[in-house]
Amino acid sequence: MSLHSFQQGPSQGIEANSIRSIGEATFIMLPTPEEVAVVAAMKLGQFIKDDPAGVLGLATGGTMVEPYRVLVELISSQSLKVDELTTFNLDEYYPISVENEASYRSYMNTHLFIPARFPLTPANGAQWGKTYVPYCPSEGDIEDFCDEYERAIIAAGGVGLQLLGIGENGHIGFNEPGSSADSITRIVPLDPSTRAANARFFSTPEEVPTHAITMGLSTIMASEEVLLVATGHKKIDAIKHAFFSPPTPEIPASILQHHSKVTVIIDEEIGKALPFK
Ligand code: F6R
Repeated sequence: MSLHSFQQGPSQGIEANSIRSIGEATFIMLPTPEEVAVVAAMKLGQFIKDDPAGVLGLATGGTMVEPYRVLVELISSQSLKVDELTTFNLDEYYPISVENEASYRSYMNTHLFIPARFPLTPANGAQWGKTYVPYCPSEGDIEDFCDEYERAIIAAGGVGLQLLGIGENGHIGFNEPGSSADSITRIVPLDPSTRAANARFFSTPEEVPTHAITMGLSTIMASEEVLLVATGHKKIDAIKHAFFSPPTPEIPASILQHHSKVTVIIDEEIGKALPFK
């Protein structure tokens, strides 16, 4: 798999037996996390190429570091235009300062927006240029801020392609187990297991914020298309429960079984453990 096949379309070079359908979802299984990153980046790059003024929903986390690195390369080598693109990130810790390197605004600026030269000014709270990360500085304003974030997504025309990772507990965004299907952008307490999983991004476990602002499950389901990326054995159970058992609020990602256009890109470590027929 190489970036050279981008010109022929993102599914070039993927062997037919790596593609499976489970309900409405299409699974693409690739040998290594590096290949997962290339194919995920090509799908994002194709979206930008086809709709340079489109609306892209973005995620953070360890899984996305490599896809974003490849996407930066693709944007530069294919001269893809990002000036007119609008992006909405799924979530951000609360409370956190945007200067904190573990904040999702810092993450996005570092891994994608600055290296790919997204216009980022004027920088104003959640919105920098046409990039949005749900950052709200003061507690009293959170509810209004969340409503405004939902309105901004709708005003931009809705998310065309939403990128998602998945938590070991099946969360998407920070919609933790038990999240309601009709949830929209809101403040949520983080599950202790999520705080433990994300402690690696902070100097001490106590520094992991207790809350986050996240798009809701209903916000995510309103996107036209979803691209879920997962690698490594720690995500096996989450993917299994999300797509191979009946949907349940206990596994928030299982709601994606009701979405009509979902692509799941996984590595073999996960793929080999799934009960494909
Ligand atoms: C991050 C997000 C989360 C992560 C998930 C997986 O914006 O929405 O749902 O995608 O926690 O994180 P990693 O990739 O670090 O395992």
